[in-house]
Amino acid sequence: MLKPIANSYDRIMQGMEDAGLTELRRQLLAPLSGRVLEIGAGTGRSVPLYPDTVTELTLAEPDRHMRARLEDAVGRQPRSITIDHSPGEHLGFPDDSFDAVVCSLVLCSVRDQGAVLREIRRVLTPGGQFVFIEHVAATDRPRRLFGQRALQPLWRLLAGNCHLTRYTDDAIAAAGFTITEMERASLRAAPPFIRPSIRGVAHAPL
Ligand SMILES: C[S@@+](CC[C@H](N)C(=O)[O-])C[C@H]1O[C@@H](n2cnc3c(N)ncnc32)[C@H](O)[C@@H]1O
Repeated sequence: MLKPIANSYDRIMQGMEDAGLTELRRQLLAPLSGRVLEIGAGTGRSVPLYPDTVTELTLAEPDRHMRARLEDAVGRQPRSITIDHSPGEHLGFPDDSFDAVVCSLVLCSVRDQGAVLREIRRVLTPGGQFVFIEHVAATDRPRRLFGQRALQPLWRLLAGNCHLTRYTDDAIAAAGFTITEMERASLRAAPPFIRPSIRGVAHAPL
């Protein structure tokens, strides 16, 4: 991520957060408990929203500019939180380390979505929860082709490899997860090309 973008990230996101993203994050995180890993935690927007039932929180963030902001956010929290540098494609944790893994607006940006999902599956306990909120390819063809696909090359450069046309729910299912809850909705106050989104919960195989 370019340093100026990392430094402006919270300001850029504020409209979306106020329009409902913070509340969506809160709802997805509220049922979590035990050992939780968040991948690509960014500037730590979700950090204050984890419930007390989460006993061990680990935040992985490979980008040094985002991680500097994350360290500030974690420093303001009363609980003890571990920050890790691993990219999602190579998580530095043993098998079965976490009861839940969280991704918010991350699977759009990773270099290899399949590899990240395999790693999430590996570090989750059998039956563990994978909680996600991600923007995805539009289901309507004109928006996907003339909006998202046309803008994608420029957007990837500006926004840290963020792809606009990924079928992330298909990738989650293809990685062997069972999606038990999923809602498709528009991210309010986002630019039109990142509004199509999914949020939900998937489970690793038992
Ligand atoms: C749009 S930001 C989202 C940040 C945060 N999760 C949020 O909800 O605000 C995308 C994040 O994914 C991170 N990221 C990019 N590639 C990654 C990878 N291969 N593994 C883990 N995180 C990655 C970026 O550094 C950035 O912090």
